[in-house]
Amino acid sequence: MYPVPVAGVRELLVTSGSTMAAAEVARQMSEGARNLSLSGHVGFDSMPDQLVNKSVCQGFCFNILCVGETGLGKSTLMDTLFNTRFEGDPAAHNQPGVHIKSNNYELQESNVRLKLSIVNSVGFGDQINKEESYKSIVEFIDAQFEAYLQEELKIKRTLHNYHDSRIHVCLYFIAPTGHSLKSLDLVTMKKLDSKVNIIPIIAKADSISKNELQKFKIKIMSELVSNGVQIYQFPTDDETVAEINGTMNAHLPFAVVGSTEEIKIGNKMMKARQYPWGTVQVENENHCDFVKLREMLIRVNMEDLREQTHARHYELYRRCKLEEMGFKDTDPDNKPFSLQETYEAKRNEFLGELQKKEEEMRQMFVMRVKEKESELKEAEKELHDKFDRLKKLHQDEKKKLEDKKKSLDDEINAFKQRKTAAELLQSQAQQSGSQQTLKRDKERKNSGFL
Ligand code: GTP
Ligand code: MG
Repeated sequence: MYPVPVAGVRELLVTSGSTMAAAEVARQMSEGARNLSLSGHVGFDSMPDQLVNKSVCQGFCFNILCVGETGLGKSTLMDTLFNTRFEGDPAAHNQPGVHIKSNNYELQESNVRLKLSIVNSVGFGDQINKEESYKSIVEFIDAQFEAYLQEELKIKRTLHNYHDSRIHVCLYFIAPTGHSLKSLDLVTMKKLDSKVNIIPIIAKADSISKNELQKFKIKIMSELVSNGVQIYQFPTDDETVAEINGTMNAHLPFAVVGSTEEIKIGNKMMKARQYPWGTVQVENENHCDFVKLREMLIRVNMEDLREQTHARHYELYRRCKLEEMGFKDTDPDNKPFSLQETYEAKRNEFLGELQKKEEEMRQMFVMRVKEKESELKEAEKELHDKFDRLKKLHQDEKKKLEDKKKSLDDEINAFKQRKTAAELLQSQAQQSGSQQTLKRDKERKNSGFL
């Protein structure tokens, strides 16, 4: 079971009046408890059974994230682990970026129901530029934390039937190169290690020799340590599993082989991969670490992975998010800070900022209006100047035209006068010409020509 959320306790304290008084009561209650012996059977020893019954009734949920390059056998391993065939078409691997695909399944074993989500990072490692490959994975993990936090912060919470989509484990598939981790692997694991329990596994381990595998495992672990990548450690604080978990921690990263193909070995059907030179048995511990992985992931530590997700990774996300929002547990004098005080301080801060912003915007508006006004005035003045210039130009033109018209009129008048004079002269000349003709005719007649 998950621990009681701290927020719940704090709300209780706030509603019961003074925070300090409530804290004191709680301290006295826990300190003042006396040990008493029972004189008969009461029945609260059935609490663990009640818890089991309740959990079985509710069912469990487990969310696995598979990260690894295309074709490393992620889907095959999931099918092998859960002894089923999860449907799902192979995704396209020519996408510009990595995208997250989540599939939900309901499984049942005996009377235990398991809601299983398998989340895949489709296209991981397919791009030429792999710098941003981790981003969509980190965003997806954060989005699930955020959804849970939002549910937790609601007034009416329904956490008991909330579909928890937070990632409980990330199986990180490493290519069986036998050399060293790729920088893509290191960068991605580093980005994820504070957000999710990482179990690194060497995929397709049947393609690497036994000696090389040992060296490869050591190399991977030393590279993870030297780069400060925190992987999930199987817990050793519970003595019932301390030994097996301690041993298994030394086997990390698990070198796995996946197959859904079953062949008859002896008189048993076994999952195996057949090659021309022999058979790799998936569940044979001399052949690979598949059984170790199944044991650790499903049969021994599934609940711890769920718990770590809630108590470590989600808690970190929640703390950072609430701090980002301005919530604190103690004030600068190390005194407890109530949510209400924080809320009111934050509200006042927000209102102050809002007022400041409003004032800034008002001033900016006034400034812009003034600027616009002076711009308009300038433009108006320019228009006036232009109008005056044009008016003057027009008057000059008009005057010039009038002068020209006047001179033309003068010319026309002079021309008319000259024409009248010419016409007069011409008619006088014609008159004298005809008189002379008559005179000559008369003279000729008189001289006897006619
Ligand atoms: P994508 O979803 O496309 O990224 O691929 P994947 O990582 O899910 O790989 P998938 O399970 O589809 O397997 C790809 C190929 O590898 C198939 O031909 C599998 O049969 C083969 N394969 C899967 N597991 C192993 C293994 O352990 N060893 C070997 N040699 N081949 C394997
Ligand atoms: Mg696949």
